[in-house]
Amino acid sequence: MKKKYNVAVVGATGAVGTKMIEMLEETSLPMNQVKLLASKRSAGKEVTFKGQTLVVEELVPESFTGIDIALFSAGGNISKQYAPEAVKRGAVVVDNTSHFRMDPEVPLVVPEVNPEALKRHKGIIANPNCSTIQMMVALEPIRQAYGLDRLIVSTYQAVSGAGINAMEELKTQALAYINGTPADKLEANILPSGGDKKHYPIAFNALPQIDVFAEADYTYEEWKMINETKKIMEDDSIKVVATCVRIPVLSGHSESIYIEVKEEGSDVSKIKDLIAKAPGAILQDDPSQQIYPQALASIDRKETFVGRIRQDIDIDKGYHMWVVSDNLLKGAAWNSVQIAETLHEMDLVRV
Ligand code: A2P
Repeated sequence: MKKKYNVAVVGATGAVGTKMIEMLEETSLPMNQVKLLASKRSAGKEVTFKGQTLVVEELVPESFTGIDIALFSAGGNISKQYAPEAVKRGAVVVDNTSHFRMDPEVPLVVPEVNPEALKRHKGIIANPNCSTIQMMVALEPIRQAYGLDRLIVSTYQAVSGAGINAMEELKTQALAYINGTPADKLEANILPSGGDKKHYPIAFNALPQIDVFAEADYTYEEWKMINETKKIMEDDSIKVVATCVRIPVLSGHSESIYIEVKEEGSDVSKIKDLIAKAPGAILQDDPSQQIYPQALASIDRKETFVGRIRQDIDIDKGYHMWVVSDNLLKGAAWNSVQIAETLHEMDLVRV
């Protein structure tokens, strides 16, 4: 086991990359050097890390020489092109994009749920989709106790999941609208999806499209939640369906989840007990005191918050819940750094 690692952050100036740097400031991972990489546009930019000034460098294949762990969050195309370059130079890659997630050779890991999958890594580990991660943290203890027959999820997702520019777009549109610009005159260039033809305002709106449309009129975001759940839980028989919605919240994804368990014997208090004891989860569920998870309160927290747990009115084995987490932390930066910590603890920082 190596004593101290050289760590690179790819996309260090982005919404997730910035949070990765914050998580590295707090990590227990023994580190020697931290290298910050972004596009040519950001080269020379200074970032304070643990009281020291680090200078952002332009990403090139040679950036990875001497790097042990590379955290990627600069978009799928950058991961496609540069993750193999990093591995070739001996680095283990933790990739936050969707590019490698469904590759059977690449483990897709939520450390509280399937750390053992890390043993199969061949240099690249994928960080799941933000919405999938928080759902897995909440549901894995229930799956272990009672099995999961089906789940139906509707998401209420924050704009930071679409990057810094999307956050700016929300703020600009909100100000313009408050100052009298009519809704049909608000400028929109990014959401619902940078890769699609039309753009709509997100301020004071709800957009039932995240990423572009794909098979059977589900969006890619919805397919990610469906496919990634089955891969992480290693169970293709779980019936999963998702509706993903972008709302005008800066950070903190919320999810309304309906589940049906397989086995007999569950009830609301047992489900609450499982969540209360679940690693990485916090039960916030007291309707008499109006206690339930909220997006604003989840910001800068690493945990996943679960509440509004209710039995379905008609289905004995059906339960509803509200699950909230900071999409930039547990949904991205923290889960990636936590994977790096787990790799270190399992002595798997090697290609
Ligand atoms: P830069 O700031 O130099 O453009 P976000 O998801 O918040 O939009 O951030 C995307 C991140 O990916 C940023 O750090 C951005 O750097 C980085 N990035 C974008 N294009 C490239 C590229 N061609 N090479 C390296 N990094 C890139």
